[in-house]
Amino acid sequence: MKKKVSAAAVTVAAVALVLVASAAEASHGHLKVGYYEKTCPGVEKVVKYHVAKAIEASRGSGAALVRLIFHDCFVRGCDASVLLDPTPANPATEKTAPINIGLAGFDVIDAIKADLESRCPGTVSCADIVVYAARDASSLLSNGHVHFPAPAGRLDGAVSLAADAQRDLPDSTFTVAELIRNFRRKNFTVEELVILSGAHAVGVGHCSSLRARLAAPPQQIVPAYRSLLAAKCGAGPDPVVPNNVRDEDPKAVAAAFPSFVKKLRKAKDFLDNSYYHNNLARIVTFNSDWQLLTEKEALGHVKEYAENGTLWDEDFSDALVKLSKLPMPPHSKGEIRKHCRFVNGHHY
Ligand code: HEM
Ligand SMILES: *[C@@H]1O[C@H](CO)[C@@H](O)[C@H](O)[C@H]1NC(C)=O
Ligand SMILES: *[C@@H]1O[C@H](CO)[C@@H](O)[C@H](O)[C@H]1NC(C)=O
Repeated sequence: MKKKVSAAAVTVAAVALVLVASAAEASHGHLKVGYYEKTCPGVEKVVKYHVAKAIEASRGSGAALVRLIFHDCFVRGCDASVLLDPTPANPATEKTAPINIGLAGFDVIDAIKADLESRCPGTVSCADIVVYAARDASSLLSNGHVHFPAPAGRLDGAVSLAADAQRDLPDSTFTVAELIRNFRRKNFTVEELVILSGAHAVGVGHCSSLRARLAAPPQQIVPAYRSLLAAKCGAGPDPVVPNNVRDEDPKAVAAAFPSFVKKLRKAKDFLDNSYYHNNLARIVTFNSDWQLLTEKEALGHVKEYAENGTLWDEDFSDALVKLSKLPMPPHSKGEIRKHCRFVNGHHY
């Protein structure tokens, strides 16, 4: 339907464009700790309240939030593009990409956003919520050992394409050379690749993400662990298994991997340097994890972080801050979304 456009409407539209443009400009390199101190006091307490509540209900939701910052920031920078739901106009947003299998935590982000919108409408970006939530989740899952002040002031992007996620995110089938190249493209070093991979101490993966491991030779995966995974993966079309063997179900471990029973933990999804111990012992889920042992520098860092958990806590904190600073592509438009799943002006 064609409408007659009034002069007033044109003026309003022009003003709105200027506002969007200046807001987008402000997004470059102006991240600041305590960014919402004046405009939305208490914002970080609100986020932490919701993250703590979600983790109390299920520690797995904490793991989901730690993965979410990576999958948001590696694709078009930290702009909450990963949160956008598919619509008829854009049916293939990032979250529909196969590489984003199992991505979760969206409900926690929605709850935080709803709370913040009622306190300070139109003020806190979804991109900043993703970063705060990942910070709080890693802190809570590590009993406070991972902690850092999180700079904020990001804007939410309007573009979200599954093809971008597929191109920019690493796949579990990658070789170490491919992993290094993938991280290099985002200005992350081999050391940072190793540091960030330690996040696989928590959470779960689908069997389809580790299929090749079920046929990998003993130098790559302990046969008893491989049998355990094979048994669990045979139990359904595409079940999930814990990333960290110490979070495994005791019955399955007793049956396939009895020597490991004593290492099982009651507290699941504890974020520490156990990933590096597991990796050196060839008991990790993904090919991409094992691959880190096949390159000299990466292997050196795996050993370094296996030896010093405090060092990993600190370096992981720093690496998350660096991740949180990945910018949107130049000249991107930004806004503060009203609802994290839709760009503003979207008609429901
Ligand atoms: C180095 C390259 C990486 C590869 C190839 C990779 C791959 C994967 C895969 C395949 C899954 C399981 C998805 C599924 O099947 O459901 C997964 C889960 C996970 N990843 Fe990564 N990942 C990488 C790096 C990272 C980084 C940098 C982080 C965060 C700093 C991270 C955090 C997580 C977490 C927390 C989970 C569990 C999520 C949950 O339980 O909901 N990963 N990753
Ligand atoms: C990586 O660093 C280069 C050089 O400083 C910069 O031009 C580029 O935008 C950076 N890439 C990302 C993804 O930040
Ligand atoms: C482990 O790392 C911490 C933090 O960098 C450092 O202070 C400590 O000296 C290291 N411990 C050992 C045994 O190297």
